[in-house]
Amino acid sequence: MDAAHMGADLERVLISEEQIQAKLTELASEIAREYDGKDLLLVGVLKGAVMVMADLARMLTIHVEMDWMAVSSYGQGTKSSGVVRILKDLDTDIVDRHVLIVEDIVDSGLTLSWLRENLESRGPASVEICALLRKPEAAKIEIDAKYVGFEIPNAFVVGYGLDYAERYRNLRSVAVLAPHVYQ
Ligand code: PRP
Repeated sequence: MDAAHMGADLERVLISEEQIQAKLTELASEIAREYDGKDLLLVGVLKGAVMVMADLARMLTIHVEMDWMAVSSYGQGTKSSGVVRILKDLDTDIVDRHVLIVEDIVDSGLTLSWLRENLESRGPASVEICALLRKPEAAKIEIDAKYVGFEIPNAFVVGYGLDYAERYRNLRSVAVLAPHVYQ
């Protein structure tokens, strides 16, 4: 879907499809350079990372494997508890392997902070993070993400994997949701 298919649901497009693809091309060439000759496993975090993973992986000029995790916040019913539960674990053993976590967004940072620690405890050669978006103003914990596409304001964004009530993930761009949709 394009923004034009969204009627009045969007306030504005924040990052266009072209901007996303151009940035992913840059990140892919950095990643390919850095991991050349290494055994790299891309770990996508469902569901938001599906689009980034699909596009980024295809732009890489080196062999990689792909695996997926699904996690969910525990307790409180809010995303910000920082306690995470694994709904789907990796199929792969990561001992001595280079792992790159692929995410759509670092928001509070709590999910990735937990995930990185969890993966690091499994004895990999390295764990790094690639996120298309980061909201610095929403950070509850600092995340050292090696590859970040765009820093964005603390607005309600959807598209390119990001949802509101499971919709808008298939929007090609990243856009600010109009408040009337969620109020
Ligand atoms: C989103 C996103 C990250 C997490 C970031 O996933 O994909 O995994 O939130 O938030 P944080 O930095 O505040 O921890 P979400 O839990 O919405 O699940 P989804 O990917 O299935 O939409």
